[in-house]
Amino acid sequence: MTAMEFLQVLPVHRCKQYVSDCCDLINSEWPRTKAARLQMLFMSCDIFPTSLVLILNEEQVVGHCKLGEIRFGGDEIIIETVVIHPDHRGKGWGRILMEDAEEYARRKGKKKIYLSTRNQEGFYKRLGYEICKPILYFGFCDRTPEPLEDNGISNGDTKHSENIPPPPPPPQSQPKKPITQQKKNRPVVYKTFMCKTIV
Ligand SMILES: CC(C)(COP(=O)(O)OP(=O)(O)OC[C@H]1O[C@@H](n2cnc3c(N)ncnc32)[C@H](O)[C@@H]1OP(=O)(O)O)[C@@H](O)C(=O)NCCC(=O)NCCS
Repeated sequence: MTAMEFLQVLPVHRCKQYVSDCCDLINSEWPRTKAARLQMLFMSCDIFPTSLVLILNEEQVVGHCKLGEIRFGGDEIIIETVVIHPDHRGKGWGRILMEDAEEYARRKGKKKIYLSTRNQEGFYKRLGYEICKPILYFGFCDRTPEPLEDNGISNGDTKHSENIPPPPPPPQSQPKKPITQQKKNRPVVYKTFMCKTIV
């Protein structure tokens, strides 16, 4: 890092001006619709899931990672969607982001961090992560969602739902393919699970 490079790690929900650029950074690595990414980032909050952004010189989003609880209220978390801007890789910024994320989790009382990776085992090993058994994680949010704003689409409020046409009937169920054929067509994705104790 040079004198001209001032880095900060911030929770994205506390600096919403970076949300759109953060979407673009994540999507440049793992393309998805912007709406899907925005939905993920807008879930960020102080009590998990939390998206942390790495900001360069108070203007450019150069990194992101997301911390989520594995079990609601438990002391283990999972880190996902770790990315550093391609122009800034290999400069130690991934380490800065991850170490700040660990410190953030520690401050929130968390004791162990899990992650899964397909080809970055070397990076995580340098940061002290060890290969472990796979964990079961569904990636959902246990919090009760905030009520929607009054935009005509409500949570079952009859005042609004009167104007919404009924949903289409469910699709007819298709005859199931034999399991062997399903297995044959399914791409096999190997992920390495890793973990680190942070107390
Ligand atoms: C993986 C990623 C976040 C690493 O960020 P980075 O800023 O390039 O990493 P750093 O420069 O901070 O590297 C930290 C340490 O890990 C090492 N390292 C980084 N990538 C490595 C790799 N692929 N294999 C082995 N070691 C690696 C570095 O040499 C450095 O070691 P040191 O601190 O002991 O000198 C970045 O390459 C990236 O965004 N990749 C694309 C997205 C991705 O694959 N994310 C991971 C999803 S699981």
